[in-house]
Amino acid sequence: MVTAHPVLLDPTPAPETPSQRQMLVILDFGSQYSELIARRIRELQVYSEVLSYRTTIEELRRLNPRGIILSGGPNSVYDPGAPHCDPGLWTLGVPVLGVCYGMQLMAQQLAGTVESGTAGEYGRASLYIDDTSDLLSGVNQGATMWMSHADSVCVVPKGFVTLAHTSNTACAAMADHQRKLYGVQFHPEVMHSEGGMALLFNFVRNICQCQPTWTAESFIEESIADIRKQVGSKRVLLALSGGVDSSTLAFLLHRAIGDNLTCMFIDQGFMRKEEPERLVKLFSEQFHIPVEYIQATDRFLEQIAGVSDPEVKRKRIGHEFIQVFEEESNRLGPFDYLAQGTLYPDIIESSGENIDPKTGERVAVRIKSHHNVGGLPKNLRFKLVEPLRRLFKDEVRKVGRVLGLPLEIVNRHPFPGPGLAIRILGAVDREKLDIVREADMVVRQEINASGLYNSIWQAFAVLLPVRSVGVMGDQRTYSYPVVLRLVTSEDGMTADWARVPYDLLERIATRIVNEVKGVNRVVYDITSKPPGTIEWE
Ligand code: XMP
Repeated sequence: MVTAHPVLLDPTPAPETPSQRQMLVILDFGSQYSELIARRIRELQVYSEVLSYRTTIEELRRLNPRGIILSGGPNSVYDPGAPHCDPGLWTLGVPVLGVCYGMQLMAQQLAGTVESGTAGEYGRASLYIDDTSDLLSGVNQGATMWMSHADSVCVVPKGFVTLAHTSNTACAAMADHQRKLYGVQFHPEVMHSEGGMALLFNFVRNICQCQPTWTAESFIEESIADIRKQVGSKRVLLALSGGVDSSTLAFLLHRAIGDNLTCMFIDQGFMRKEEPERLVKLFSEQFHIPVEYIQATDRFLEQIAGVSDPEVKRKRIGHEFIQVFEEESNRLGPFDYLAQGTLYPDIIESSGENIDPKTGERVAVRIKSHHNVGGLPKNLRFKLVEPLRRLFKDEVRKVGRVLGLPLEIVNRHPFPGPGLAIRILGAVDREKLDIVREADMVVRQEINASGLYNSIWQAFAVLLPVRSVGVMGDQRTYSYPVVLRLVTSEDGMTADWARVPYDLLERIATRIVNEVKGVNRVVYDITSKPPGTIEWE
């Protein structure tokens, strides 16, 4: 699948804000959980950022974090080229918590002993607590903790004591209470670790003494001040898609700069049934945020007429989007700023902070997220305003809710930029668009009625460009099949097919065949991602 990445045009760094100053830093050693640690800390209402393990001590001093967490990682501390942090960390005077690899690194660098590959532990383990004074206060004896390690700390460094053990690991947690250095062999951040949040609370709120200032309300207040400071009385253009990110962005910017914001909605003709009208009406009439509605269906259809290669189709749509965007921004402009819904994971991912376990080199292991507004040409001389760049998706939803966005937008399923055009396999025409739009409407109505909307990541119909034989009444039919794609997922990177009741599938199938002209068969896609993708093109 093609992924469009935004060309960053003259990015202006977002100003620092008060609650970001009281922050925790997570140094990433290549763990798949680094981002999760950051999210957990933010759930405790303390701002946190994931940075490379290579971050220098000078940079850390400049950031002035209240505490530092060292993530896990795929390496052994003895691997040649294994990632190390700046040893200045141990005398910085800031509390440090090492998690798994982070604990082993702490032990090794402070002259303790780490034993390699002897009695590893994978999966659940019961934690027996030997010292309840601070980090493990409130965690139950025998609490289940999630382990995943081959190496263990066998001799703690001078000044440290053992805080807890498991049946396989003599030192499952350690501390130097004096210097406020802590290490845990398990992963408190994962859902399966009982008392993991209590441990993180102890570290963040008690040991690091952070105040719970990172809230949607404080974010909104600070962002509005930042936006005003950044853009002044200049005009800002926003391409609205109707998804939660661009809608939240529109609300926030409108609060900050009122009429200096122009929202543009380009209708490519690939939206779901009734959505363009609904969106424009909702924003203009209910929220009093005017939207420039650009009807461009003919242009887009012309561009992809007869195109069946998915990559070509996506590229042509992306290219046409830029054309229309450029023409319309010239017509409505001039604008000084372009608002973009960049989120924090986009920034972490684009810094490629992952380590190859064999070479110790950093590699990007995750597919980049998709962007609705991507690849804007360099000659558009906009400066960027990206107020959501520090937020995770769930934080955007919280901010949206507090700003007054209706739940139908806040909880909306993701919808791809090229829309229904990539849900019609092969060449797209008006007839097929009508079919897939009607089928999609049935899916949406039934999923909504079932009460399952919020437990499903996405639910939609895909139209296949083949025909099969059926019988309706006494007539033989020869029509298209529709594929139902209902998936569960955490973040769209991996997904599983949704185990919904058969009755629901039956209702959807029956209604589609009865109500959507041109379809005589419905099939259910039971492929996970990987190896499949969520979309079919
Ligand atoms: P795949 O099909 O790659 O999709 O498993 C992962 C998630 O991304 C969405 N998607 C897109 N979103 N522009 C977008 O804004 C796109 O071009 C695009 N392609 C896929 C997809 O719906 C799923 O949520």
